[in-house]
Amino acid sequence: MQLVRPAITHLPGVMAALRSGWSPNTTRPEAAQEELATIEADAADYLRWMDDPEGRGPPVTLADGRQVPRIPGLRRWLWADDSDAPATEIQRFIGVISLRWLPGNAPLPPHVLGHVGYAIVPWHAGRGHASAALGAILPLARQQGLHFIELTTDPDNLASQRVITRHGGVLVEHFDKGPTYGHKPGLRYRIDL
Ligand SMILES: CC(C)(COP(=O)(O)OP(=O)(O)OC[C@H]1O[C@@H](n2cnc3c(N)ncnc32)[C@H](O)[C@@H]1OP(=O)(O)O)[C@@H](O)C(=O)NCCC(=O)NCCS
Repeated sequence: MQLVRPAITHLPGVMAALRSGWSPNTTRPEAAQEELATIEADAADYLRWMDDPEGRGPPVTLADGRQVPRIPGLRRWLWADDSDAPATEIQRFIGVISLRWLPGNAPLPPHVLGHVGYAIVPWHAGRGHASAALGAILPLARQQGLHFIELTTDPDNLASQRVITRHGGVLVEHFDKGPTYGHKPGLRYRIDL
C-alpha cells in the first residue's frame, strides 16, 4: 500500500467505492453521494482541493447540516500495490486519510474532530492499512510545522484506538463531542511528533 496524491487516474476506483455505498464520512454517510456528484460535475476542480494548505476550498457541511469555512488540510488516498493482490485495477482503492491543521498548531475548533481522519473500504479492512496510513501521514504533519496531532474516536471503535496507540497515541481525555454531534461521547488522543 502507498499513499498517493489524488489524481485523475485514481478516480474510477474511488467512484466505484462511493457507488457501492461506502462512505468515508462516518458522521454524515450521505456525504458519499454528494462527493460522487461533485466529482461527476467537475473532476478537475474536485482534485484541485486535495492539497489545500490555506483552507481556500469549498465550505464543509457538518453533521448538524451547518456549513463552516474549511481550515487548511490535505487528503491522500491509500492505493494497493501488487503485494496487496487487488483483483482489478479499480480495486486498488483502499481508503482515504486526511490531515487538517491550524497555523502554529493552534487549537482546532470544537467541530473539527482531530487533525487526522481515515476510513478504509470494508473489502480491504483488517490488513493493517489504516495503521500504515497513519504512520505515513505523520511526516506530512511534521512538514506543516505541527509538533503534535490530536485524534478522536468513538469509545467503541476499538480498531481505530489500536491504530492510534500503535503510533504512540496517548489517551488525553474522554469528552463530549458537543451539539454538532448530538453530544455523543468521544476519546481524544495525542501523538507527539
Ligand atoms: C477503523 C478502521 C479505519 C480500521 O482500518 P483497518 O485497516 O482495518 O485497521 P488495521 O488493519 O490497521 O487494524 C488496526 C488494529 O485494530 C485491530 N482491530 C481490528 N478490528 C478490531 C475490533 N473489532 N476490535 C479490536 N481490535 C480490532 C486490528 O487487529 C489491528 O490491531 P493489531 O495492529 O494489534 O493487529 C476501519 O475499520 C474503518 O474505516 N472504519 C470506519 C471509519 C472509521 O471508524 N474511521 C476512524 C474514525 S476515528
